[in-house]
Amino acid sequence: MADIEGTHETKEFYLDVPAKNRAFFLKGSGALDWGLQNRLARIFSPASGKTVMLAIDHGYFQGPTTGLERVDVNIVPLAPYADALMLTRGILRSTIPSSCRNAIVLRASGGPSILKELSNEQIALDIEDAVRLNACAVAVQVFVGGEFETQSIHNLTRLVDAGNRYGVAVLGVTAVGKTLTRDAKYLRLACRICAELGAHVVKTYFCPEGFETVAASCPVPLVMAGGKKLPELDALKMASNAVEQGASGVDMGRNIFQSDAPTAMIQAVGKVVHEGLKPEHAYDFYQTLKNEKKVETLAGR
Ligand code: 5RP
Repeated sequence: MADIEGTHETKEFYLDVPAKNRAFFLKGSGALDWGLQNRLARIFSPASGKTVMLAIDHGYFQGPTTGLERVDVNIVPLAPYADALMLTRGILRSTIPSSCRNAIVLRASGGPSILKELSNEQIALDIEDAVRLNACAVAVQVFVGGEFETQSIHNLTRLVDAGNRYGVAVLGVTAVGKTLTRDAKYLRLACRICAELGAHVVKTYFCPEGFETVAASCPVPLVMAGGKKLPELDALKMASNAVEQGASGVDMGRNIFQSDAPTAMIQAVGKVVHEGLKPEHAYDFYQTLKNEKKVETLAGR
């Protein structure tokens, strides 16, 4: 029997304080269930409404690409500076410490390697394994205009059904193949299709002209993909422009892990995304951290 001795008789019900109805902080996500919102609030910082997601899933079709040869050596030290890690379940189980605090976004589509037609993907992960791995979201590539367009969209819709059943978010990733353009007209089409078909978050590339229309016409949070390696200042400018024009953060890979100083770069990206620091100032911050590291290395620390 519960010990009820000493229970206070006086109670305070705050009758003059109306219960608060809090709106969820992410665009287009107010009608989602508690578990889904809670998982999204682990990917996106409730303070800034933004995310720095570190994409390291390239191996699922490219093998050990430059910078990802040894995830244990090169990537694990970056994790504390990322809100979320986007990766495969193989790398997660084999290499990422289970004590990590990051939100996990699991790659859930795959099949062809770089030697074959990339749009020929299928679902490559059971939603129950995503739940077992405490994933906040699963990511699926959508090849609008690609050879296997319908199949990739079917992958998305199957995962959305499974994700809604278990409260796991789905990140629709708009792929751009060799023949697909990256202009605003194409990106608006691809992003909107992902959102209309149920993606909770959409990832897409930045385009210099009209990105704000891509973000505005996507009813759910949009995160910017990094793309090929750029000089650090250019990558910071791109991230800054994307966020200023409506992106809810970034999902960057090569521009972080292929940087001359990845730990400095991910922190500089964080300054741009979460604090709105101007890219030139974030670049100074990057240089300072990079030089400090150089001094430490020379001193053998
Ligand atoms: C593959 C992906 C990757 O996660 C992403 O594109 C890689 O990031 P980056 O382009 O910044 O290296 O979604 O299609």
